[in-house]
Amino acid sequence: MKTFTILKPDDWHLHLREGLVLKNIINFTSKYFGRAIVMPNTKTPVTTIDKAIFYKKLISEALPKSSKFEPLMTMYLTDETNKEELINGFKNNVFFAAKLYPANATTNSSHGVKKIENLYEIFESMQESGMPLLIHGEVTDSEVDIFDREEVFIDKELSPLIQRFPKLKIVLEHITTSHAVSFVEENNLGATITPHHLHINRNAMFFGGLNSDFYCLPVAKRENNRIALRKAATSGKECFFLGTDSAPHLRQWKAFCGCAGIFNSPVAIESYLQVFEEENALDQFEKFASLNGPNFYNMPINKEKIRLVSRLNKIPEFIDVIDKNKVVGQIKPFHAGETLNWQVEGIVN
Ligand code: NCD
Ligand code: ZN
Repeated sequence: MKTFTILKPDDWHLHLREGLVLKNIINFTSKYFGRAIVMPNTKTPVTTIDKAIFYKKLISEALPKSSKFEPLMTMYLTDETNKEELINGFKNNVFFAAKLYPANATTNSSHGVKKIENLYEIFESMQESGMPLLIHGEVTDSEVDIFDREEVFIDKELSPLIQRFPKLKIVLEHITTSHAVSFVEENNLGATITPHHLHINRNAMFFGGLNSDFYCLPVAKRENNRIALRKAATSGKECFFLGTDSAPHLRQWKAFCGCAGIFNSPVAIESYLQVFEEENALDQFEKFASLNGPNFYNMPINKEKIRLVSRLNKIPEFIDVIDKNKVVGQIKPFHAGETLNWQVEGIVN
């Protein structure tokens, strides 16, 4: 049995939702992650300091009493974003970063930005104050093929943006293409990589009939892209770090509307480990999971460690959402019903 320890990881891209779902899922992240960047695409998006403070309070209340987990809040940028609110929120440690969703690119993004140029003044101030910009990098133009939306975004939107704001600290989120991998490497950006984009290619969505379990945004691409992502994640290169993009949707909603999002927080560390082992790169895992992120964001690394053990780990078909001791809903986790080779055994002090 193989076993090793790594410094406690952080999740640099996470959806925690609200209400009962939040209460039922937070523990999957707070147990073994030190911090997580919490996405602001709640039903009413987090667009102000007050909303971020309120949402952070909901998250803290949902945490187990003894938890040291730290949620890092983000502001959802819109065409109406108030620059003073954003920068004040950053300077007063309410916002850790700002999130750019092109309008209608993904779940709960209808308030997103219609024209990136409208935000240039805001980016100017973010660049000056060192506030990170997190980008959902897809164009939303219906004429652009869904499998090309990341590449077109990089060439048409991101490229001019970084030329105009060379010192703006940018993270291209949940990258899915070899084009994104090279662009991030060549332009001094950061990038998060999800477990699911390391495991599946676009075939997964069509295996055994249309399968929304593997539908997320950006959608998984061709196999050559998955290979490029695996190489990037396991390379140890500082620009690539862990961001699960765990995005729970209740089973009934997935079935009804096929909403985009894969819930991977119950299996995220194990899922990544499987990939690192397959790539003979277990020795690079700590960099990806626990060091590259804090280095990019100039944050201290976590002090505690977690112990990882190679042992068969059967993943449940569903995670229950419980209210007053009654199951009121279910969410399908990534790898549902599969047996993985790794397990997190616990915290080592
Ligand atoms: C996310 C969600 O459900 O909030 N969905 C997804 O497919 N990743 C939104 C997002 O990050 O795009
Ligand atoms: Zn996301």
